[in-house]
Amino acid sequence: MEKIFEISKINNLELQNRFVRSATWEGMADEQGFCTDKLSRTMVNLAKGGVGLIITGHLYVQQVGQASPFQLAIYEDKFIDELKAMTDEVHYAGGKIIAQIAHAGCQGSAKMSGLEPVGPSVLQVNGKALCREMTTEEINVLIQDFTAAAVRAKTAGFDGVQLHGAHGYLFNQFLSGFYNKRTDEYGGSLQNRMRALLATLRAIRAAVGDTFPIMIKLNSEDFLDGGLTREDVIDIAAILEKEGIDAIEYSGGTIQSDKKLVPVRVGRIEKENEAFYREAAAQYKKRIKVPLLLVGGIRSFETAEAVINEGIADYISMSRPFIREPELINTWQSGERSPAACISCNACFRPGVKGEGIYCVAKEKEEQKKTD
Ligand SMILES: Cc1cc2nc3c(=O)[nH]c(=O)nc-3n(C[C@H](O)[C@H](O)[C@H](O)COP(=O)(O)O)c2cc1C
Repeated sequence: MEKIFEISKINNLELQNRFVRSATWEGMADEQGFCTDKLSRTMVNLAKGGVGLIITGHLYVQQVGQASPFQLAIYEDKFIDELKAMTDEVHYAGGKIIAQIAHAGCQGSAKMSGLEPVGPSVLQVNGKALCREMTTEEINVLIQDFTAAAVRAKTAGFDGVQLHGAHGYLFNQFLSGFYNKRTDEYGGSLQNRMRALLATLRAIRAAVGDTFPIMIKLNSEDFLDGGLTREDVIDIAAILEKEGIDAIEYSGGTIQSDKKLVPVRVGRIEKENEAFYREAAAQYKKRIKVPLLLVGGIRSFETAEAVINEGIADYISMSRPFIREPELINTWQSGERSPAACISCNACFRPGVKGEGIYCVAKEKEEQKKTD
């Protein structure tokens, strides 16, 4: 059997293959952030389609950390029952599902939450402050709230959690000198910039036990002046390895990065440009033993297989291809190896914002043309 379809384990979690649905906000929660039947069905389709591990769209752990409309929430116990209904259905369909727990920091939406966004430091964009600086007390509460969210995720039947530490979200902001200008014990040296994250990781581990997988999504680099470089991130990964993180996912860029280097790059991806962060991943694998998930612009089976067989990463993570083809992995496993049909146009975001849930608008247009 090809290595990419072999059974493997992350901590105690057994996975049927090495394909992961990267965290993807679906815009399918209700207005309060409760999970819905529609969202459950979407996750079940991914499980039935052969995805080895599903990572949910980001769930906000504090109201002020909400980024998007119709986003899942996990800041109180009241959200557990509906989330449990979803994990039960995914498990019944033979899938595995991890909750991405998140805080948008300076990218928080005051419009959504009614609260002033907070971050490690004030972030000025075009002369306007997007957030205010968090107090030490607020950082302590943040650590508790992430921990409570992870415990809720476990209670709700998730197979693990992934901390969102990429794409300019709050932990990325703490880690990155571009965002973090603090002069107290949470800013300056790498040790200081990692302090909030490490305290969170330790508190979660103590609360959920040794066998519950805790993963993190990181930027392999920020592509920002003064932001995280590949070398910085490998130093961060080495420390997380010592602290017992179970897996790391590599992405890159933030909304403040150059347009061509944002996390969700727009435009059809030719074969030679697939796997945006493969060089950073290869560098990681030379030093770090923690399993690596690689996301960003992977579209063909050949590239996915080469990444695994050449030891560049341990798991292939994709987002947009599964919006169009939730059955893609079964198709590939059956021997039909055409590349993902996704054209990376990002039109899928639009219906999500309107409350219709994300779907492949390009596919819909193509089908309409056929019937016209
Ligand atoms: C509609 C949409 C929603 C996304 N939501 C999240 C999210 O909630 N958390 C996250 O870490 N990344 C999110 N992403 C980024 C993806 O996980 C992924 O990093 C990015 O799309 C690049 O991978 P791809 O080329 O396979 O799509 C989202 C992407 C899309 C298209």
